[in-house]
Amino acid sequence: MAFKVLISDPLSEDGIQPLRKAGNVEVDVNTSLSSDELAEIIGEYDALLVRSQTKVTRDIISRATNLKIIGRAGVGVDNIDLSAATEYGVIVVNAPDGNTNSAAEHTVAMLMSLARKIPQAYLALKNGKWDRKTHVGVELKGKTLGVIGMGRIGAEVAARAKGQRMNVIAYDPFLTKERADKLGVDFGSVEDVVGAADFITVHTPLIKETKHLLNKDAFNKMKEGVRIINCARGGIIDEEALYDAIQSGKVAGAALDVFEEEPATDHRLLELPEVIATPHLGASTVEAQENVAIDVSHDVVRYLTEGVAKNP
Ligand code: MLT
Repeated sequence: MAFKVLISDPLSEDGIQPLRKAGNVEVDVNTSLSSDELAEIIGEYDALLVRSQTKVTRDIISRATNLKIIGRAGVGVDNIDLSAATEYGVIVVNAPDGNTNSAAEHTVAMLMSLARKIPQAYLALKNGKWDRKTHVGVELKGKTLGVIGMGRIGAEVAARAKGQRMNVIAYDPFLTKERADKLGVDFGSVEDVVGAADFITVHTPLIKETKHLLNKDAFNKMKEGVRIINCARGGIIDEEALYDAIQSGKVAGAALDVFEEEPATDHRLLELPEVIATPHLGASTVEAQENVAIDVSHDVVRYLTEGVAKNP
């Protein structure tokens, strides 16, 4: 009997070829299911593949009587109830490498757009306004970028920022002096980083310890006119505190790819001219989507057919 796999978020068709070619795997793609609809049908499936849109809740996992594995085509697993998965014996695999480059490139694109007000100028010009006064930017050269979270993506962003002749100061609980020296960055506590930086970018997972890491208190410790970038996860920054810090002039601008609640079409931060935004596009490149889909597809096939989860 064939294993049944459900793909409930849009994944690269080329990337899921390992599943299609596996022979004993039947693949259903349905990317428009509501939570209730998913809960209704999940009992039929041996594996579920998602990106970040599908919320794999305890309720869904408890009704997934045949489910053996959940594959997350991407890094963050905050949309999956991990303790429920463990309780019900369902393993969760992610693809931690495949979108590093795309996420780092998107962060740098946001950093440069924020510094030079490119989205605001674009919008004005598209609306027929040739305005060279409002959109005066700032240079990156000689400025300090604070990187909070120096994992794969944070380290790639730091390397690119140095190419822009920026100074980099980083915080990561696992960052040693040797590694910081090797990467050519200064390092310190979160307080050191927020106090020293002209631009701050966050690259941590969203976990209990990082929820609202940039809160009112952190904004108070920042330099006047600091600019903030978040291409990681919405909840890392307290959005109320960010809104207030922009309104007070403490924060000169913010570039957001992620929000606490997504989709975020009707968000008051989006009303502020100092905020530029994209709809969670950090990993949305042809290359990254293919990479992550290939990685999790291989993992799922291997687990279903051989009982082994990770690439050897
Ligand atoms: C990730 O965690 O990999 C990214 O946020 C991309 C995605 O949502 O798929």
